[in-house]
Amino acid sequence: MNPDEVVRALLEIDPTHAVETERDMFLEFLSCLRRGELRAAEKRENAWISNTDVKKAILWGFRAGVLVNIQTPPFDRGYTDKDTLPVRIPTVEEGIRMVPGGSSIRDGSYVAPGVIVMPPSYINIGAYVDENTLVDSHVLIGSCAQVGKRVHLSAAVQIGGVLEPIGATPVVIEDDVMVGGNCGIYEGVVVRKRAVLGTGVILNASIPVYDLVNGTILRSAPGAPLEIPEGAVVVQGSRPARGSHAETWRVHLYTPVIVKYRDERTDAATALEESLR
Ligand SMILES: CC(C)(COP(=O)(O)OP(=O)(O)OC[C@H]1O[C@@H](n2cnc3c(N)ncnc32)[C@H](O)[C@@H]1OP(=O)(O)O)[C@@H](O)C(=O)NCCC(=O)NCCS
Repeated sequence: MNPDEVVRALLEIDPTHAVETERDMFLEFLSCLRRGELRAAEKRENAWISNTDVKKAILWGFRAGVLVNIQTPPFDRGYTDKDTLPVRIPTVEEGIRMVPGGSSIRDGSYVAPGVIVMPPSYINIGAYVDENTLVDSHVLIGSCAQVGKRVHLSAAVQIGGVLEPIGATPVVIEDDVMVGGNCGIYEGVVVRKRAVLGTGVILNASIPVYDLVNGTILRSAPGAPLEIPEGAVVVQGSRPARGSHAETWRVHLYTPVIVKYRDERTDAATALEESLR
């Protein structure tokens, strides 16, 4: 069966009554995700489209799984999780460096050669992490998140998972994006190529982004994610809150701001250290 046929076949089976051969099909599905043959979202004509069947098939595995203690090196005392959701241990041939110290890559995620995963970090099911991306310490790459090539996810970056609602597009970080320390990106936000998120920027579908260069306010809309434009440099800002109480109390709301578009100065500030790779 080709990968799409595996997904279709799975979705016709009741996960709560699946027999061994049907559960094996879920392992084949995880392998397709691991090899990058299936993705939770794909770019078509510059728009990111969620693959709802892939997301449904992932949820199928959660429902079909039963709790077991799994004994797999390097987890000396094993770990306990649903038996359909194993951990994957990268091999030398895969070319991924996973430094020891509490990191996990859940099977059913694609992690390309050249990726470095610093501990502790977690890459969840359905995530796609492309070539030469750096995953620094305390990073979460949530379920189905799509991360491009040569992306720098700095320490403590949190990328939310978007398994449900089923039609929602996962968080997408395109190629050559620099995500500064402590950033949080949630709810299907799309960060276009070469953008830079300064330290501590938080983005979700409800947070408007003020583009001071073009004089526009970027927002999500029903069915359309919040998009950070290519090469935008986003930093933390604030704006006065509305209403008389806010005025009296001088309350400001947190607001991400595009202060500029990437230039040589930004490139210098975000240059990656080749010797670490
Ligand atoms: C965004 C960043 C890359 C700077 O980009 P840059 O192109 O060099 O920005 P510039 O220095 O030209 O600054 C442009 C304007 O934005 C302001 N600014 C820059 N970074 C800012 C930040 N993080 N927060 C608030 N304002 C910021 C500058 O003061 C400047 O405004 P001004 O002209 O009114 O003074 C940098 O601030 C940053 O956040 N880097 C990530 C650091 C990090 O988290 N590293 C993790 C690995 S250790």
